[in-house]
Amino acid sequence: MEYSRVSSKVKATPSGATTPLAVLFDAYGTLFDVYSVGSLAEQLFPGKGQALAVMWRDKQIEYTRLVSTSNDGAHYQPFWDLTRAALRYACRRLGLNLLAEFESQLMNQYRHLSAFPEDREVLRALKDRGIATGILSNGDPAMLDVAVKSAGLEGLLDHVISTHVIRKYKTHPEAYALGEKACGCTASKIAFVSSNSWDALAATWYGYRTLWVNRQGLPFEELGTQPTRTGSSLHDVLDFFA
Ligand code: LAC
Repeated sequence: MEYSRVSSKVKATPSGATTPLAVLFDAYGTLFDVYSVGSLAEQLFPGKGQALAVMWRDKQIEYTRLVSTSNDGAHYQPFWDLTRAALRYACRRLGLNLLAEFESQLMNQYRHLSAFPEDREVLRALKDRGIATGILSNGDPAMLDVAVKSAGLEGLLDHVISTHVIRKYKTHPEAYALGEKACGCTASKIAFVSSNSWDALAATWYGYRTLWVNRQGLPFEELGTQPTRTGSSLHDVLDFFA
């Protein structure tokens, strides 16, 4: 694979590492708060909202892996469909009666997730420094389009990359390769930001400089590799450019 030559623009930091040329963000959990569905879930299923939000998310991610790794992708479904399937599973597992109107309310809420409060400010700060910005997400293009628009992030993102185009999900290497292709440089010159520890880990393995945004004070994965940086909000990505 060939990448456009951008190395002349690379600046060395005092530590010898180069300043990234671009920053790519994961979407769900990183720019958009997936657990913001919890309050609607709590209204619909009192006492179970939090458990439902967590199980829904975990099952959604599990399904992305299942369809990516089985039978050469023959069972691929877009992220929106996997999200609905995961909701149905989580409700059955928790013994919750998912009426059709509840399902449509929860899915609609998922389409319009809250953005984290610092999103705009951090993207603006990167743009002001002349850094290319983008999303690299498992979300399908229609989902990302609505999420970006409802969060008011249009104009602050140079790339909105959906893995749907290859019908494989992160953490498949082809999914991470899409970021290099869009930015026109190798992963080592791109900072990849995710609040999902599995995503930060796999992006590090792939070769990106990474920031794990540990919003929930969780332990990192125990697989022997650490992200380049760990922070608690998106603001920490600016440390790459200090
Ligand atoms: C994303 C999900 C997996 O790729 O967080 O946006």
